[in-house]
Amino acid sequence: MSHAEDHEGTRRDFLYYATAGAGAVTAGAAIWPLVNQMNPSADVQALASIRVDVSGVEPGTQLTVKWLGKPVFIRRRTEAEIEEARAVELSQLPDQNAQNRNDMSLDASDQNRSLDEAGEWLVMIGVCTHLGCVPIGDGAGDFGGWFCPCHGSHYDSSGRIRRGPAPQNLWIPVAAFEDETTIKLG
Ligand code: FES
Repeated sequence: MSHAEDHEGTRRDFLYYATAGAGAVTAGAAIWPLVNQMNPSADVQALASIRVDVSGVEPGTQLTVKWLGKPVFIRRRTEAEIEEARAVELSQLPDQNAQNRNDMSLDASDQNRSLDEAGEWLVMIGVCTHLGCVPIGDGAGDFGGWFCPCHGSHYDSSGRIRRGPAPQNLWIPVAAFEDETTIKLG
């Protein structure tokens, strides 16, 4: 399969996820395709923060929303995924930084990447840190997390790079719970 076909396949996957998740995003989401066609402007500024209703996300599933032109993965992890992520020694990780835009001084422990203390929620920018493809989720790859088929980057259940050419863990955006079922991005 050619490189171009790889990208095409990934794009189709993403469009599917984006469509599946669209219903759960509140005000602003409906106009993102339009914003994408414009230069950065006041309209983009207005979308700097969005709120996502995650009440329908079951453990072991993932919602993908588009935010500031990028896919954002919102995964509600199972106990097994959390345990697996928290059992990993830091020394096993190629990228030792949490890549958490809330605090860039944190090490790559799973506790520094998950949104809540229990580790049930993981929110990440869904863009491979190698050349920017959108990784496949739902336990894909050799480390039970995400896999980028473009050049074979494997991410674990915390979204940390474990094998392949990607230099960094998947980025954690500025995000927080606004109430029990609403996550605010930005
Ligand atoms: S873009 Fe090359 S491995 Fe992800």
